[in-house]
Amino acid sequence: MAENLLAIDDLGDDFKGILDWAIEFKRAWKSGDDIAHGFLPLDALTVGCIYEKPSTRTRISFEVGISRLGGSPLTLLKGDIQLGKSESISDTAKVLSRYLGAITYRCFAHADVKELAENSTVPVINALSDKHHPCQAAADLMTILENFENTDDVKVAWVGDGNNVLHDLMLACAMLGIDCHYAIPKGYEPDEEVVERANALAEKNGSALVETNDPIAAVKDANIIYTDVFISMGEEHLKDKISDFDGFQVNMELLANAASDWKFMHCLPAHRGDEVTDGVMDHDNSIVFDQAENRMWAQMSLLTYLVDKHTWETMGEMMGLGIWD
Ligand code: CP
Ligand code: NVA
Repeated sequence: MAENLLAIDDLGDDFKGILDWAIEFKRAWKSGDDIAHGFLPLDALTVGCIYEKPSTRTRISFEVGISRLGGSPLTLLKGDIQLGKSESISDTAKVLSRYLGAITYRCFAHADVKELAENSTVPVINALSDKHHPCQAAADLMTILENFENTDDVKVAWVGDGNNVLHDLMLACAMLGIDCHYAIPKGYEPDEEVVERANALAEKNGSALVETNDPIAAVKDANIIYTDVFISMGEEHLKDKISDFDGFQVNMELLANAASDWKFMHCLPAHRGDEVTDGVMDHDNSIVFDQAENRMWAQMSLLTYLVDKHTWETMGEMMGLGIWD
C-alpha cells in the first residue's frame, strides 16, 4: 500500500480501484446518494497544501475536495512559511507532521517532494514537480475510463514535450495496459529512467509504449490525443524552445489522422495557438473540462485511500465495487 504519492506508479495494483472509487463516488455525489454525503473520511483533519508555483486546478480541486470530505484545507503559498528561506525541507516536514493529516506539495525539483515525504509522518502527495504530476494522471485515466467502456483497443497519442505530465501519463497507461504512443521533437525525450519504468509496466500488462518524432505516426488511428504546453513552469527562460515544436501543434489537420471517435485531452492551462488551436480546444470531442473536474474526484479518492484506507475500503464496498476481489 502506498504511504505517499510521488509518482503514479507508487499506487501499484490499487490504481484501478482508486479510479473506480472516484468514478462511483462522483456518480453517487451527483445523485445525492448517502454513501457520498454521509461519510467524512477527513473529519477533523487539516490538509496542508504548499505551492511554490501558481495553480488553478490543483489548488481549487484540493480545497473543495478536502472540504467535501469533512477536512480543512490549509493553502500555504511560497513565501507564507519559512520553507526555503530559513528552514530546511526535513525540519518543515517534521513540524508540519505534528499538525496536519496530510500534505500536498507543488515544487520545482522532484527531489524536494521526495525529501518532504521521507521526513514526514503523514501522507505526502506530489501536486506537480518538474518530473511527475500523478494527480493529473489519476484524473486523466479516470476520464479515459469514463469515455471508453473497454480500453483494450484504446490508443493514447501524446504530441509535444517529454515532460512531467507525459511521464505520469505513460506510467498510468502502462499500469492499465493501455497503448501509449508519444511524438516528441528530437532533444525533448522523456526521462530515460521513467521510460524504463513505464516499459516494464507495459510489458507486464501487455500494452505498447512507442516513441516517435512523427506526430502523424503517433496520432494515426488514436482514440485519445493529448498535448501540454511546450514551455513548462520553471522553463520561462527557455523561450526559444518553442521553435523546436514546429509541426507539433494539435490542430484539425493533424486530427484527420486520428480514429473517428477521437477525444482531445490537455491538462490545462492551454496556450491556445501554440500547442493547440481554438478549433480543437472548443470541439465537441474535447474533454479537457471533464479532465479538470475529475482532478477533484480522483484526488478525493486518493486522499481517502492514503489517509484512511479502512474507510476507503468500507465506502468502496458500500458503493458495490469489487476492488478487493
Ligand atoms: N493541470 C494543472 O495542474 O493545473 P494547475 O497548474 O492550474 O493546477
Ligand atoms: N507541464 C506543465 C504542466 C502544468 C499543469 C508544467 O509543469 O508547467
